[in-house]
Amino acid sequence: MQVYLDNNATTMCDPLVVEAMQPFFSELYGNPNSLHKFGTASHPAITKAIDQVYTAINAADADDIIFTSCATESNNWVLQSVFTDHIVNGDKNHIVTTEVEHPSVLSTCKFLEEQGVKVTYLPVNDQGIVEAHTVKSFITEKTALVSIMWASNETGMINPIGEIGEICKEKGVLFHSDAVQAVGKIPVDLQGVHVDFVSFSAHKFHGPKGIGALYIKDSQALSPLLHGGEQMDGRRSGTLNVPSIVGMGLAMELATKDLENTMAKIRAKRDYLEDELIKLSDTFVVGDRDNRTPNTILISIRGVEGEGMLWDLNNGQIGASTGSACASADLEANTVMLAIGADNELAHTGIRLSLSRFTTDEEIEYTINHFKEAVARLRAISSSFAKQAPTKGGEAQACEMH
Ligand SMILES: Cc1ncc(COP(=O)(O)O)c(C=O)c1O
Repeated sequence: MQVYLDNNATTMCDPLVVEAMQPFFSELYGNPNSLHKFGTASHPAITKAIDQVYTAINAADADDIIFTSCATESNNWVLQSVFTDHIVNGDKNHIVTTEVEHPSVLSTCKFLEEQGVKVTYLPVNDQGIVEAHTVKSFITEKTALVSIMWASNETGMINPIGEIGEICKEKGVLFHSDAVQAVGKIPVDLQGVHVDFVSFSAHKFHGPKGIGALYIKDSQALSPLLHGGEQMDGRRSGTLNVPSIVGMGLAMELATKDLENTMAKIRAKRDYLEDELIKLSDTFVVGDRDNRTPNTILISIRGVEGEGMLWDLNNGQIGASTGSACASADLEANTVMLAIGADNELAHTGIRLSLSRFTTDEEIEYTINHFKEAVARLRAISSSFAKQAPTKGGEAQACEMH
């Protein structure tokens, strides 16, 4: 059996989505900007995909959705264009974000710091959540933008986006949220919250890779990141990726249709898996499960280094993930776990298991059995290393295994 439990990294493209995309590679392949019928033939499908996206997230206007190549582009677009529009060509100099954003936000912020921008990286609480009052206390009259993810890719923890949005509105500060890990897992209702920019990525909800979107409230001015052929009303140049746009529209519709019911089923499997795994001694799961995306578990097993565990799971045909990295001389801890206050040893042991609507009960049973055996195996190896080399640290020994 093969079990894929790394759905926060990427998901299988839904077969219905693959089927819907197919004609746009082989029959309806014209450039939508061409005036002839080969080009215009794809227009209804593009309009439909935009409708599917804006309906799924309850945006007020179809014009507020712009397709991009990925969420990394969407995040870069917001940060870099707010920099141009409000810092270089305005009177602001400050951006507020968190310590636990995706690298597409964090690295862009580091880049902007090199251009002279002041960036505040807010801490999260012991649940991995950024609290609204913390956001409020760091906004100044020089703040141009607050950028805070809707839900965490690592822990699944859900931030208080509604409250943060209200604070930004009250303070007159632009608010961006990376909703990549929220769509298809929890309701994303853009008319129910105040947010100016929201990033999406299709491959996280059973759509194709290489297509994303940016929601821009009321189509407000945001300088283009990509200049060129003036596609999408000049807001985002580049020939439209029609097959992927069609795929993203359908994937979003499927992922958000009957969301409550689908998520209740995923959550039941996730909770069962979690309940079984935490029966192991010295085991910790990050964050209250009621405030977590219903598919995610970030689990730590004291004394079992994350990379070793990943390697053992992989041998058992189970795909999972860890935020920690293992190099021969140096071990990096999971930075999100450190940010929530885990000690250094524990921060080397995080394993993320993320389910999807395609995960089966049999796969969960198989994972529970293999996981428990793997923990016993790795604990036995690490204690035998400890006996042989008592002066070395436990996690370093576990890593030396591979
Ligand atoms: C929270 C979050 N933001 C952004 C991204 C980047 O998405 P993409 O692969 O579409 O660039 C990811 C994917 O890893 C993510 O989990």
